[in-house]
Amino acid sequence: MIRIFKINFVCLSFIFFISCFQGNAVEVEKVNAGIWKISVGRPDKVNLLSELNIAPRTEAILEMGEAFMPVSVEDLEFKVVDGKTYIRFPLEKDEKIYGLGLNFKTVEQRGRVMRLHADHYGGRDNGRTHAPVPFFVSSRGYGALINTARYIDVWVGTGIRKDSRNVPIARDRNTDPEWTSRPYSDNMEFLVPAEGVEILLFLGPTMLEVVQRFNLYNGGGTLPPRWGLGFWHRTPTLFTDKLVMAEVEEFRKRKFPLTVIGLEPGWMSHAYPCTYEWDTVRFPDPVGFIKKLDDRHIKTNVWINPYISPATKLYDEIKPYTSSHLVWCGLVPDYTLSEARQIATRHFEENQVKKGISGYKLDENDGYDYWLWPDVAIFPSGNTAEQIRQIYGSLMQDMTVQMYRKQNKRTYGLVRSGNAGTSSFPYVIYNDYYDHRDFITALINSSFIGVLWTPEVRASKSAEEWLRRMQTVCFSPIAMLDAWADGTKPWSFPEVSQQVNEIAKLRMRLIPYLYTAFANYAFKGIPPVRAMNLEQGYKDEVKMEKGKLDATENPYAMALRKEIKDQFMVGNSLLIAPLFAGETERRVVLPKGKWYDFYTGEFVGEGEIITVAPGLDKIPVYVKDGGIIPLWPGITQLENRRYPLEIRHYGEKASVYDLYDDDGETYDYEKGERTWITLKVDIENNGKKKGTVIIPKNSEVWSFSDYKFRFMSSVPPKSS
Ligand code: GAL
Repeated sequence: MIRIFKINFVCLSFIFFISCFQGNAVEVEKVNAGIWKISVGRPDKVNLLSELNIAPRTEAILEMGEAFMPVSVEDLEFKVVDGKTYIRFPLEKDEKIYGLGLNFKTVEQRGRVMRLHADHYGGRDNGRTHAPVPFFVSSRGYGALINTARYIDVWVGTGIRKDSRNVPIARDRNTDPEWTSRPYSDNMEFLVPAEGVEILLFLGPTMLEVVQRFNLYNGGGTLPPRWGLGFWHRTPTLFTDKLVMAEVEEFRKRKFPLTVIGLEPGWMSHAYPCTYEWDTVRFPDPVGFIKKLDDRHIKTNVWINPYISPATKLYDEIKPYTSSHLVWCGLVPDYTLSEARQIATRHFEENQVKKGISGYKLDENDGYDYWLWPDVAIFPSGNTAEQIRQIYGSLMQDMTVQMYRKQNKRTYGLVRSGNAGTSSFPYVIYNDYYDHRDFITALINSSFIGVLWTPEVRASKSAEEWLRRMQTVCFSPIAMLDAWADGTKPWSFPEVSQQVNEIAKLRMRLIPYLYTAFANYAFKGIPPVRAMNLEQGYKDEVKMEKGKLDATENPYAMALRKEIKDQFMVGNSLLIAPLFAGETERRVVLPKGKWYDFYTGEFVGEGEIITVAPGLDKIPVYVKDGGIIPLWPGITQLENRRYPLEIRHYGEKASVYDLYDDDGETYDYEKGERTWITLKVDIENNGKKKGTVIIPKNSEVWSFSDYKFRFMSSVPPKSS
């Protein structure tokens, strides 16, 4: 038998039981301003957030103020049938749905059927991905997290219900040209294979505010150490300490920026499964090696995966806290158990953290069915293999961050899997897939679901592709060349070596701007790299182009989706519009207001679509009217000192920018050791611009020595 619970929560301010049926209650609770929790039936003990050391940024959420649910409560449904939970959200005609995992092909998700499941990305947006976050953002100005660590199914506007308000008419395929294989649906429905679930609603009113509340609820965004925002290079798997040092020397000689060196599996005595212990032949003196790199202002990051080798000291001690199944003949620790965490932490601290390693690349925690533990594996905590798979990446992020917190040192690293609840963890997702366009779509999509993504560069078929990839990675959360397999160097294509050098230096110049963008992520939940759809004044264009009937390729003449999925925002005011190999020009959609060329300061357009042909040397970057961009010099290494600041102003508008500053390395900023500096540009009647820097009294400045303003665009004098 089925019972449907309809809820009314708009005016509730305390816990309220709406309905009770066979022990399955629907409970609605206001959590904070614009955040509601709905509990249906009997939710699992373990969910996406329950195992993580995170706490909502309550104050920041309160500051955002109240918001209202734009959806009629009559249209929400929750029911528990045969041990499974059914959830329905209504959809309106023009409503768009974003998020629902780290997707690579499209930004808007309406029309998709997915099973959200942690996995390698396999080239199709079917829900199997590195961050299968069950969180959606609706263009109506609300979003919801289906907080379960189960594989869940979602039909995003595909199922058509008899009781719908807009049942489409049945057409005759033989004769009616309007017949479509996918008639209109006004439902989004989830199926959770558990007899209850917790749902968290995040309200807007704008989509950006929905995302902000979601990120703040999960602990706010991460604030990486400043060095994390420089240039990273990962060396080939079997490199020795000497080869690494020679590579570093080559960077120095060629004057290429470098702030982090990444060691791949060969730093370890055994990998796949892992010992987490140094290989004594390739790295006879790890401490000395790391110190040498530190002396050159370079941090060391090491690759690991979760599977524990019989050759490690850790093996016997951790064995009781591991799963029934092995992966690559290694033990799989159950990191939902504090015993497993403690044992691994001790080993990691001794072998890496205390030796000076700055962070990790946490590989292979997304799983791939052919070598991962199967869903029939038993874990000693009693949590199911499915639940553990959905949160394994999150657990590893959490555990490693705690080690660095203890030392009062920030870390920044890479991870192959995450889920809801990880926005405050300093990890950026990457993968083995390598389609440049899809990498940029993933970059855009990461901003809806509280994770970070890097379109890392590994290899290229041509100098053109190499440069285009370098240009985009330098506007992402980690600017990195991952040469683990190919041994590539930034200068691997001599024809574009100069341009690669320039873009890597621009990345270094942008550090003060990027660091502030991350501070806005940490304190306000605003993603540092964002979808255009989260930008005010942007009109997205999703068009369904009629499909052609083709008996082999498209027998149902399915429509094709056309949308913008290759331009994005970085920080407050930069719009990035990458080009891909083979392209000489592209269209750029400029949101409302005036926009200016980053390099020249020239006006390029306002609220319109422009076509640009920038040449190979440059990636198109545009600045919003009034945009203030603080820049460092084009340094190649990041020393622990202050650099002079160039403060650029673009356009005609007077404006104010809050520059964030702290020691760039420790967690002291959480205790108030931080300064927000006001950069202000006024425009006088004669069109002259005047810049002012206001440093609050008795506040420390860590990152810049002196400054000068540079006004990039001229302003016509005001007529009196
Ligand atoms: C892969 C990973 C690569 C590289 C490689 C080393 O799983 O995605 O980036 O680290 O392992 O074996």
